[in-house]
Amino acid sequence: MIGVFDSGIGGLTIVKELVRKLPDYSFVYFGDTARTPYGTKSPETIIAYAIQDAEFLLEHGAKIIVVACHSASSVATEALRKRFPHVPIFEVVTPSVNKALSVTKRKIIGVIGTRATISSGVYQRRVAAIDPTVKVYGNACPLLVPLVEEGWLKKPETRSIVKKCLIPLKMRGIDTLVLGCTHYPVLKPIIQAKAGRRVTLVDPAEEVAEEVAGFLKKHQELDQTLKREGELKIYVSDLTEAFERVARLFMGRKVPLLKADCEIEHIIKA
Ligand code: DGL
Repeated sequence: MIGVFDSGIGGLTIVKELVRKLPDYSFVYFGDTARTPYGTKSPETIIAYAIQDAEFLLEHGAKIIVVACHSASSVATEALRKRFPHVPIFEVVTPSVNKALSVTKRKIIGVIGTRATISSGVYQRRVAAIDPTVKVYGNACPLLVPLVEEGWLKKPETRSIVKKCLIPLKMRGIDTLVLGCTHYPVLKPIIQAKAGRRVTLVDPAEEVAEEVAGFLKKHQELDQTLKREGELKIYVSDLTEAFERVARLFMGRKVPLLKADCEIEHIIKA
């Protein structure tokens, strides 16, 4: 199975792309809805949660792990790779950085994400390691997460908050904008409208799906061991009707959610 985890339901935007790209494969997803959001938490807490989330997936048959959560990708990737050295671990920052570097002409990139993601400075570090002449400006836009979860995708309030989030980045003259949070791809039309036609949006969902597909092609021995029954099991640590509604919004279709009963008790107590 290909395992994917996120702080909640938003990571289904990544699953949607993975399933589109790899329709025959079987996926197991864990959304930590009981402890969401991660974007407001400290790196130490996010690391501890991310390790538990990955353990859950491995216990449920995952052979590779995709960290769909940008906050966890930003602060916990190193710790995850250290803890699970034999498991291929993908995250959403690297493919976004590569894509952003390949499209920027003015060499000024903007990133929007949660507070945890933006204050980690991971995008600046990664970009500087590849091309120090490129400038990266980040802005935390935490208000967009609840707006998306409420389904306020076209409301004037959402438009005005997106506009406000982008002002400091537009003032820097960005020509590329990374959507550094699971929830933002569903706001693409508004973000594009407010960023302007000349700004290229980088959707990490598309980039990470491309990366995983490329990796599996190159690693046939691992690829052969992955289940291909086109199955998608979505576990959540807390289940409410609202989560089911949000899951439908992110996947674009109704998907059943499974309550990760005993396992999450263990996770919460740990
Ligand atoms: N999934 C989170 C991210 O992409 C957004 C929601 C949260 O803060 O947990 O950073």
